[in-house]
Amino acid sequence: MAANTFMFDAYGTLFDVHSAVRQAGAPLGALAEPVSQLWRAKQLEYSWTLTLMQGFDDFWVLTQRGLDHALARHNVADPALRTALLDAYLTLGAYPDVAPALARLKAAGKTTAVFTNGTRTMVDAAIAAAGIGSLLDHVVTVEEALAYKPSPAVYHHAMTKVGVGAPHEIVFVSSNRWDIAGAASFGMVPVWINRTGMPNEYPGRDPVAALPDLAGLATAFLGD
Ligand code: LAC
Repeated sequence: MAANTFMFDAYGTLFDVHSAVRQAGAPLGALAEPVSQLWRAKQLEYSWTLTLMQGFDDFWVLTQRGLDHALARHNVADPALRTALLDAYLTLGAYPDVAPALARLKAAGKTTAVFTNGTRTMVDAAIAAAGIGSLLDHVVTVEEALAYKPSPAVYHHAMTKVGVGAPHEIVFVSSNRWDIAGAASFGMVPVWINRTGMPNEYPGRDPVAALPDLAGLATAFLGD
């Protein structure tokens, strides 16, 4: 398959959203896992509901609201912990397979891009912390589109920003199955990175390939 532009989702795909709680959430004890899961679920729920309401607040605001809800649901009132968790979210760890996969694509002359719901400030901080800035040609956020994935308008925004004329010329890589469904609906070439062994969903809006991590991506598309 000849494809020249590889576009990556950020949160969950390049950066481990649960590393913030692992890094700064020790005071949560046994609540660490449920708080982290609810934080992520609420952050995403707010992005979807706002978009359906044709409203927009940026992803950093939604990240804070999601954390506040998760802490409140578990009766945790600890302002210092809240601050530490948000600080950790700005420097989430990148998965170990990310830099080698990007480097292989760049070595093959491919164009690489991040396309994320996150704010430019958030994603720039994560990219800098991971040291992968030199492996990325474009960083696109939804901020200018004033809507969130999986609205087709935002995939269109991303396609325009990377200077590509048709969705099928973009390989779109995400660990979020709903994001893969959105990219498939828009006509991109979707590759699902199923890092946590989730069952398939969104029938009819399917990936062209499902991989456990980014290690096999270049092999699948460069044929080497
Ligand atoms: C992103 C979210 C969906 O990075 O993880 O866009």
